[in-house]
Amino acid sequence: MAASTLATLSTTHRDTFSRGWLRKLVCHLVAIGGLVFCGMATSTEATVDPTEAPIFRLADQCPPSFSLSEDNRCLLRNLYQLYNSLGDHGVGGLKTALPTHRDGFTPQQIDLGRLLFFDPLLSADNSISCASCHDPDKGFGDGLGRSVGIHGQRNQRSAPSLWNSAFLKDFFWDARAHSLEEQALSPLFSPIEMGNNPQQLITSLKAVDAYPTLFEQAFSETGGLSLDNLAIALAAFQSSLISLNSRYDQYAHGNADALNQQEIEGLNIFRSFVARCSQCHMPPLFTNQQIAVIGTPEPQDMTRDIGAEKTFASAKLRGGFKVPSLRNIAETAPYMHSGRFATLREVAEFYNGGRGHAVPEDEQLLLHWHISEPDLTSSELDRLVDFMRTLSDSSLRPDIPRAVPSGLKTLNPKTLNLKTLNLKTNKNSRRES
Ligand code: HEC
Ligand code: HEC
Repeated sequence: MAASTLATLSTTHRDTFSRGWLRKLVCHLVAIGGLVFCGMATSTEATVDPTEAPIFRLADQCPPSFSLSEDNRCLLRNLYQLYNSLGDHGVGGLKTALPTHRDGFTPQQIDLGRLLFFDPLLSADNSISCASCHDPDKGFGDGLGRSVGIHGQRNQRSAPSLWNSAFLKDFFWDARAHSLEEQALSPLFSPIEMGNNPQQLITSLKAVDAYPTLFEQAFSETGGLSLDNLAIALAAFQSSLISLNSRYDQYAHGNADALNQQEIEGLNIFRSFVARCSQCHMPPLFTNQQIAVIGTPEPQDMTRDIGAEKTFASAKLRGGFKVPSLRNIAETAPYMHSGRFATLREVAEFYNGGRGHAVPEDEQLLLHWHISEPDLTSSELDRLVDFMRTLSDSSLRPDIPRAVPSGLKTLNPKTLNLKTLNLKTNKNSRRES
């Protein structure tokens, strides 16, 4: 049906399909239901040529929470920037500063990135898009302990959320990429993720009517359609995924009623030197962007993932992973680099289980000094979970394009594959016995 639609991309990150398209869709659905309803259609839609290809126009405004500069760049605006202080460290307490971030992309680059992110054309067999594993409805993760790529191949790690990636310095669980542009090339050309190669990717983008023109619009001064510009557009889109207006943030900015008593208790435990969570999951991003070895057990059927040992060629970092941000954490179960824990309560219990309790006897790991013996009570663990649940905010969720330039379906065909493969969300989060 996508090919017979007239689609335009609107000015604010939103799809505006022509009314004709919508009525036509209703018409189709009602027709399927056996009712005759289409006679009510107005003349506008009657004039739509069913063979007409969708027309794409890139946004000329920034997504919400960005302001447009005179030289057509989107600059991030948020309340944390108002806490002016020496060295921009914030004014203390929870009114603290965010790390430096990426912004300054044009509205057109961000919007082109959005189309690319959802377009399965980017994978070798047109079966999956970035969004297949980074689904906006699942906190930009995929709800799996270990992602599944092209031809149903199982990845060793889980797909991290992409919210607030504008603030990150290193990417991947083992911190092996240092920019969003560098990162993007990895899934595109990984044989177990999107399985593509540079030549085929560029050829297939050029073969789609709209892409060369859209790249020209977004990158008129830097050569239009190219691999570099594809990576920049994806980085631009991902840098626009800002989640900083959770109930926690409202509380941090001074609205004392934004959290209830139990959640405040949880926040206090989280920040206490007993639990030490905030030593690593440092507000307001809820990560200090360091690598830490915490001794997470692997799922039963997996050998140890050495993590950052490989990246830095350092035995000290064996089993070390990037401290993940806990923003929107309630939406991205299962947890840890390979989805070992199904719930936040299980994660809290893991930290409470005592330093190194889940490290196999034959394994030498140099655990981080903040991994301790917090000895929290059962209700304190519940409070920690209550608090982590306040870090959710998807209010700036971008719209999923209803059509992408390739004409391929943006709905995730992989979901069907997963059902056939019978890979359940929590299958790899069983407890070791
Ligand atoms: C097959 C599933 C899959 C697809 C498709 C996929 N990713 Fe990922 N993504 C992952 C997994 C798994 C990781 C973690 C891998 C690791 O750490 O080694 C990841 C990591 C990332 C990260 C790093 C996040 C962080 O906090 O470190 C970014 C950014 C990202 N992907 C963006 C993309 C983009 C852009 C695309 C499309 C070009 C894409 N991904 C396609 C599964 C996928
Ligand atoms: C020494 C640093 C450190 C401390 C202290 C720490 N964490 Fe973590 N946290 C990490 C690292 C590193 C990971 C990823 C580990 C992995 O994947 O194996 C992680 C993962 C998590 C996750 C899963 C995130 C995801 O995206 O899957 C949650 C939830 C979490 N921590 C909560 C807590 C809580 C609650 C506390 C306090 C009781 C705490 N952390 C203390 C470093 C730390």
